[in-house]
Amino acid sequence: MKTELRELNTDDEEAFIVGLKEWIDESPHWYSFAWKDGMTFKEMLEILSNERLGKDLAPGRVPHTMLYGFLDGVIIGRVSVRHTLNESLRLRGGHIGYAIAPRFRRMGYAKEMVAQALVYCKTIGVKDVMVTCGDTNVPSWKIIEHFSGKLQDRIWDEEDQETIRRYWINLT
Ligand SMILES: CC(C)(COP(=O)(O)OP(=O)(O)OC[C@H]1O[C@@H](n2cnc3c(N)ncnc32)[C@H](O)[C@@H]1OP(=O)(O)O)[C@@H](O)C(=O)NCCC(=O)NCCS
Repeated sequence: MKTELRELNTDDEEAFIVGLKEWIDESPHWYSFAWKDGMTFKEMLEILSNERLGKDLAPGRVPHTMLYGFLDGVIIGRVSVRHTLNESLRLRGGHIGYAIAPRFRRMGYAKEMVAQALVYCKTIGVKDVMVTCGDTNVPSWKIIEHFSGKLQDRIWDEEDQETIRRYWINLT
């Protein structure tokens, strides 16, 4: 395994800022939900820590851990792990969401990172992992099926106006 998936720490500021630039042509949400222009890295780490601990959660949010994938010190993507599901995540989102920076795609890194995220899920007691993806998002459902995800159903997502697939990966 070439990538290391882990939480950010105070030594990662430079890598985080460099990694953000990889997303200039795509939605920065794929990289970070917490980062806002003008905040300090330390402030963001505090938000991430609170979210992991379930402290001061915004309405509709559940405790979650943001794990970043490092390749030789460079952040190439992330996996967000939701510790529990709410109504909205059961519809779309599930327990884990992942993204790889464009220039690092199609090299097997998402699979590597999801493998590590599933180990993390087990450590926090999530044994049945729900994962959702757009019906046409071929790499995403290939990853889920690689980890023996069982398709629950395909449903129409009014908000995003697309059909999505809902899968479960059993870790026991
Ligand atoms: C989905 C995403 C994370 C995949 O990352 P990746 O590192 O390129 O994926 P991998 O290299 O591990 O490839 C996984 C599988 O998808 C296949 N694949 C990758 N890109 C593909 C593409 N554009 N078209 C078809 N298959 C593709 C790979 O060949 C591999 O298949 P295999 O298991 O048969 O070998 C990445 O495309 C991404 O970040 N997309 C934007 C965010 C997103 O859609 N996230 C998922 C939300 S549900």
